[in-house]
Amino acid sequence: MRFGHFDDENKEYVIQTPKTPYPWINYLGSEEFFGLVSNQSGGYCFYRDAKLRRLTRYRYNNVPCDDGGRYFYVKEGDTVWNPSWGPVKTDLDEYECRHGLGYSRITGKKNGLSVSTLFFVPVGKTCEVHSVTLKNESKSAKTFQLYSFVEWCLWNAEDDMTNFQRNFSTGEVEILGGGQTIYHKTEFKERRNHYAFYHVNSKVAGYDTDRETFLGLYNGFHEPQVVFAGESRNSKAAGWSPVASQCVAVTLQPGEEKTLVWVLGYIEVPKDQKWESKGVINKKPAEAMIALLDSKEKVDAELGKLKAYWNALLTGYSVKSTDERLDRMVNIWNQYQCMVTFNMSRSASFFESGIGRGMGFRDSNQDLLGFVHLIPERARERILDIAATQFEDGSAYHQYQPLTKRGNNAVGSGFNDDPLWLILGVAAYIKESGDFAILDEQVPFDNDESKSKSLLEHCKRSFDHVINNMGPNGLPLIGRADWNDCLNLNCFSETPGESFQTTENREGRTAESIFIAGMFVSIGPMYADMCERRGDKAEAERVRAEVAKMEKAVLDKGWDGEWFLRAYDFFGKKVGSKDNKEGKIFIEPQGYCVMAGIGAKTGHAQKALDSVKEYLDCDYGIVLNNPAFTEYVLEYGEISTYPAGYKENAGIFCHNNPWIMIAETVIGRPERAWEYYRKICPAYLEDISDLHRTEPYVYAQMIAGKDAVKPGEAKNSWLTGTGSWNFVAISQYLLGVRPEWDGLLVQPCMTKEVPEYTVVRRARGATYTISVKNSGKAGPARLTVDGKAVTGNLVPYAAAGSNVKVVCEV
Ligand code: BGC
Ligand code: NOJ
Repeated sequence: MRFGHFDDENKEYVIQTPKTPYPWINYLGSEEFFGLVSNQSGGYCFYRDAKLRRLTRYRYNNVPCDDGGRYFYVKEGDTVWNPSWGPVKTDLDEYECRHGLGYSRITGKKNGLSVSTLFFVPVGKTCEVHSVTLKNESKSAKTFQLYSFVEWCLWNAEDDMTNFQRNFSTGEVEILGGGQTIYHKTEFKERRNHYAFYHVNSKVAGYDTDRETFLGLYNGFHEPQVVFAGESRNSKAAGWSPVASQCVAVTLQPGEEKTLVWVLGYIEVPKDQKWESKGVINKKPAEAMIALLDSKEKVDAELGKLKAYWNALLTGYSVKSTDERLDRMVNIWNQYQCMVTFNMSRSASFFESGIGRGMGFRDSNQDLLGFVHLIPERARERILDIAATQFEDGSAYHQYQPLTKRGNNAVGSGFNDDPLWLILGVAAYIKESGDFAILDEQVPFDNDESKSKSLLEHCKRSFDHVINNMGPNGLPLIGRADWNDCLNLNCFSETPGESFQTTENREGRTAESIFIAGMFVSIGPMYADMCERRGDKAEAERVRAEVAKMEKAVLDKGWDGEWFLRAYDFFGKKVGSKDNKEGKIFIEPQGYCVMAGIGAKTGHAQKALDSVKEYLDCDYGIVLNNPAFTEYVLEYGEISTYPAGYKENAGIFCHNNPWIMIAETVIGRPERAWEYYRKICPAYLEDISDLHRTEPYVYAQMIAGKDAVKPGEAKNSWLTGTGSWNFVAISQYLLGVRPEWDGLLVQPCMTKEVPEYTVVRRARGATYTISVKNSGKAGPARLTVDGKAVTGNLVPYAAAGSNVKVVCEV
């Protein structure tokens, strides 16, 4: 069942009911000011850091699940309603929510009155615009009240939700223009030099800034006593919970339309300019911001700029094919999700509280893959930040904090796959940009400037970290865990509540990961290539020899007969083998080993992928392992704690499905690759939205697997490495346009269901138009470049500004 439809022309998803199977959200902002907004207007905003600079309040894990947001209440006669349906939930005559790129528009109609609320963060500004267009579509004049409402958060979202003994007494506001502007200035007096405000470009009939007065102590957001009584109380918050609500009295003649503009702004002032007079904050910068956004015309222009910004970004890669769902995912939503993931990492979504994790070393390197073609300069900065949290021995902090850019001690290190991801990120960046000079950048270890070495040296340390940490079978030691955070082979946790990722590990040098071995064979050669290009032949040879050794070790010790083993445990026993009772086969090594080309010539690769099909594939995607664990296995850790079919215990962990898609292209099986692509791709799941539950325009981290109570049900949408890896799979391997060191490699491996398509790809300032005639057979492509046949499948990089025409036949 569907709950809306795609509007490709406008790059929007149009939701036709507020009662989606889960809140379907969107993100506002892409630089410093960010917001989350659901299709019921729920959500919150923050400046740069969702934990440390939270501007509006949101209660997680709440009942009902999406309560608290930017609300507009209409009171006409005795009827009170919201254009977003919730929180009051008065039946609407019409409802529509359009989530676009960086903006959302929610429109409700009731008794001939249309109220359309547009939310966005203007490019380059630290505020949200809430533009409300009111239209009288009835035949008689209408007089009504419109109330706004936001609830301030006391800056630190974690403290805000826990430290009530203090926080119920700190809240302070200033009110200007009879309530037209409400300033939130809690803690401004002491150590903060920032405040927020909520302003409307109209005279107001009244205002409220104290939540209890506005709602009533025993009322929820669905029954604000002020609105139902039809009269603001002009309350001034003193402690408790400061809010901002304005009441505007409106009369509209039949057919008349009016737009009111609210601005929710964040302001920082220099320390010595904090005050206008004693106790009165300096409002100059706020007034300047307001002046830029105080009319419908100015707001329309800003929305235009925002659309232009996104349209320009998305010209990096686009496809025109015979399959509209494919086109909309590739051209719009998958890339949009990659950008959001880049901005948020794993911090703030409707599944991530914004007060938890920092940026993952592993995650951020992989996120790069999905947006490096859009904004290489920001990828560059990100790489240098990540590399600076590496240790001298090549290991790395598992996470770092975006505000301080320092490694997170609480989570620590010891995830032995982490170092290799840095090489992958660096290679992707250089291939895209041609910026080999980044390898000479001096980058600290552990943020200690005195311990700086070149980025190339960081890559060497990453590579050597694997070699220096080998187990008894000549395979890499796993440490705390590898990509699979929940395969904790040295953990042996028996204490309830203990973290599997950070708790003291047993000192064992036996538990080995075949997955890291696969990564090493896949990613190691990228480091060798870099060395070669820097003229260091000897190092390149050393690297290739190590890689060859590892490949042999995988085939000798990492093969189980029908598939690749997953690991050796603390006791040296096989994990992911036919000899195991549960968890006989795992997806990760099948994906990464075949992506690395291991066993491609010997038939191992094909066999491994056939086993994936047989044991791991199901209607909704490829599960992580099979059979699912039904008992706690002390020596495996968290993986066996999840009920069967969820998360890392045989859930469809969408992040690793594209590894299998890519692996299928490596052995030349386009139909399989395509089948897997479609299975987890949200646009193709639109018809089962009732089952899938999360947004049909973005990937979710996990879909419940075949052993689950409810197979096919997704969770954790938006912030997941699934976004970037699926974009890599479809854009680089299936559609087959991939940046390499010296040119764009064009090698499609695409289903015969799509017999023709054209990719337009920007790379290093040139534009390539690549028209593909596709027979669906995997095989070397025949290329002509600007009319001339070329041998091989590399289209050399052209000068910036040029337009290159490529014709490709497979
Ligand atoms: C969770 C895993 C999750 C991981 C993310 C773990 O603590 O339990 O399921 O994928 O963290 O880092
Ligand atoms: C989510 C984490 O962000 C990612 O780093 C990890 O690889 C997966 N979980 C699988 O455990």
